[in-house]
Amino acid sequence: MSDLATYDRISRFNHWLIAAAVIFMLFFGFYLAYGDLPREAKGSLIGIHKAIGVLVLCYGLWRVAWRLVQGFPAGIPGMPKWQERASKAVHWALLAGVVLMPLSGLVASVFRGRPVDVFGWFAIPALAEIPWLAGLGGAVHGWTAIALSLLVAAHMAAALRHHFIDHDGTLVRMVSGRHATAKG
Ligand code: HEM
Ligand code: HEM
Repeated sequence: MSDLATYDRISRFNHWLIAAAVIFMLFFGFYLAYGDLPREAKGSLIGIHKAIGVLVLCYGLWRVAWRLVQGFPAGIPGMPKWQERASKAVHWALLAGVVLMPLSGLVASVFRGRPVDVFGWFAIPALAEIPWLAGLGGAVHGWTAIALSLLVAAHMAAALRHHFIDHDGTLVRMVSGRHATAKG
């Protein structure tokens, strides 16, 4: 798709910032949904979850746009074709998750008639009460959370495998931007 050999500084910063935010938000969300929280604590924590989620959506849109404009670097030299295809598919799915996850949460909220206050900085107003749309948003939020968690686990395992077993430059080019070689 492109003749880039590695990730530029902005791509690396965007990757790690959004990766940390998404992993944190997945834990946060599952804790809200399945943790044993008293009602009042849960209410204010949901407010914080929603506010951070909206910020992740704003930054995530720019992060995804930057990747689309830059394109993906080619796989490292010598990588089997199937591995290159599989990693590309996972990367596209992760990019979709970065947008779909917060967007579905937002749809669930605003069409349940609930505004989202982003730390008093700005607010997204409640749009209308459309129960089926709010329900759909909630369902997509829940199922995407499970799919994304599995994808992130596979993605992390692949990155570690490249580094510690294959000893190639895949992880290094996302950490330092050094050009990937077959033997890192
Ligand atoms: C990167 C962004 C986000 C991630 C990774 C994330 C993740 C999660 C997860 C894992 C859950 C529990 C799964 C479930 O619903 O069954 C959850 C619940 C929820 N999320 Fe998010 N979320 C994000 C953004 C948002 C946003 C932007 C909103 C709304 C503006 C939102 C609103 C909610 C609500 C209301 C719940 C249900 C909590 C409950 O009552 O149990 N989320 N989220
Ligand atoms: C500790 C966790 C993570 C590690 C170690 C990691 C590692 C990596 C590495 C080494 C690459 C480069 C792969 C290549 O050049 O072929 C990469 C790319 C990528 N990663 Fe991660 N990653 C992590 C978490 C995440 C998370 C949570 C997401 C998204 C939710 C994500 C999304 C992506 C995407 C979309 C790419 C393709 C390039 C880009 O657009 O940045 N990663 N990751």
